[in-house]
Amino acid sequence: MFFVGFMGAGKTSVARRLARICSVASVDMDTYLERREDRRVKDIFAEDGEDAFRAIETDVLAELAAKDPLLVSCGGGVILREENRAILREGGFVVYLRVTADEAASRISDTSSRPLFQDLAAARARCEERLPLYEAVADVTVDTAGKGVAAIAREVQRLLEKEGVLCRQPR
Ligand code: S3P
Repeated sequence: MFFVGFMGAGKTSVARRLARICSVASVDMDTYLERREDRRVKDIFAEDGEDAFRAIETDVLAELAAKDPLLVSCGGGVILREENRAILREGGFVVYLRVTADEAASRISDTSSRPLFQDLAAARARCEERLPLYEAVADVTVDTAGKGVAAIAREVQRLLEKEGVLCRQPR
């Protein structure tokens, strides 16, 4: 299962929380990628450029899609390549966590590790541009506006139960 959405949507925290609730493993794609490459995402961007990062990202996505059951929190730009969108659509269930750039900016305390979230006006445009791409891969969408991680995770869990995707957990 994949979590997609713009930077600051809460993908990593929500996937981690849901994984704990449902006793399955979760992995953050960027953390996995950084360990695999032994380099920080921001350094890959700075040294080799975005295209090089996107090529590694596709590789990592394919690698993680083969591992199941696993909750994967994806990098915000994973939906940019058609190749990735095909992997997402074919590889399992996709949860889209929707957030506005403005709300995302208020959640991200340190933008230095996010090379593509340096300036709010550009982030707004980028977020808007990507919207149809997130929608194109999403099986379910959760609006995260004004909600904390626990509330978002509960909402995702309810949706997944309804869809029969995740096992019902005793409460
Ligand atoms: C990116 C999002 C980042 C990271 C990279 C590029 C993007 O991941 O993959 O900085 O293009 O939106 P998060 O969404 O986890 O911040």
